[in-house]
Amino acid sequence: MILPEPRGPLSERLVAALARPPLEGARTLACGVPASTDPLLDEDHQLSLFVCYQLHYSGFDEVDDTWEWNPALLALRAELEAGLEGALRGVCAGLGWEEPAAAPEVPVRLSGMVRSVGGPSLSAFMRRRASFGQYREFAKHRSLYHLREADPHTWAIPRVRGRAKAALVEIQADEYGQGDVRRTHSTLFATTMRGLGLDARYGAYLESVPAVTLALNNTMSLFGLHRRLRGALLGHLAAFEMTSTGPNRDLSLGLRRLGAAAQVRHYFDEHVEADAAHEQIAARDMCGSFVADHPELAHDVLFGAAACLRLDRLWAEYVLDRWHRGVSSLRAAKAVTTA
Ligand SMILES: [Fe+2]
Repeated sequence: MILPEPRGPLSERLVAALARPPLEGARTLACGVPASTDPLLDEDHQLSLFVCYQLHYSGFDEVDDTWEWNPALLALRAELEAGLEGALRGVCAGLGWEEPAAAPEVPVRLSGMVRSVGGPSLSAFMRRRASFGQYREFAKHRSLYHLREADPHTWAIPRVRGRAKAALVEIQADEYGQGDVRRTHSTLFATTMRGLGLDARYGAYLESVPAVTLALNNTMSLFGLHRRLRGALLGHLAAFEMTSTGPNRDLSLGLRRLGAAAQVRHYFDEHVEADAAHEQIAARDMCGSFVADHPELAHDVLFGAAACLRLDRLWAEYVLDRWHRGVSSLRAAKAVTTA
């Protein structure tokens, strides 16, 4: 993956710094982060944070790996994270996560949040009306997560104990194909992408996706990389699993309507079955057990779920709004140049 084109002064400074050795580049990072009125939709803010986080995943070609733990970069990242976390708590206000919850109530509270999320259904649109081109757009957005599916939530494994850990590992093992690389969900999604005529290399469409798509991904990394937010990470995963079955069925049916082969639909079909089982494991065994051991973190679990649901809705609204206006939901990007 190569460094992306900047989207403003901050990402311009960051990308230029990363192209240099850390001892030289770090000096240029100490100028602070410009204030943003809406960090979730701020292209410069979200791209900069995505670039910082990418150093903890597979990194960038020709960027020194020691940048990952560079203090100047981490200081910059902390400012960006504060903006993102503040914005998330703002958009999630009123979704019920602030109210106290005892451990046995957590699975029920999660179900209630999932049922009350509302908003337009992107998956219903995909099932009934989406064109092949819109499926390709959808896959480009989703590729930033699905081509490294499950990785951000794996950071919770060493941070939880007992039944919660066992439940999390059970879910993650399925995500990673029970050890069979052909069945890992990222591999299945790569097959879907190739079936749609797309490039399945990680980051091939980074230049195309807007801030709101980056915010979805950055939120998972934020929760994953901070132990204090481990409850939010578990709640996020639970909401993800609890909202997966129906939409994935829709997405498969839409592709069938368009005549796509079973192999191309397989990623979505796999999630209809797997996530029906994961739903209970995530809500009851994982989150319920975690809160029983850490009652003071119940708020965080519910906050993580609220963040997942709210961002997914914001993203769906963004995409559908553009499609209804007859324009692309993607940014006009340069041709893919990933090596
Ligand atoms: Fe999955």
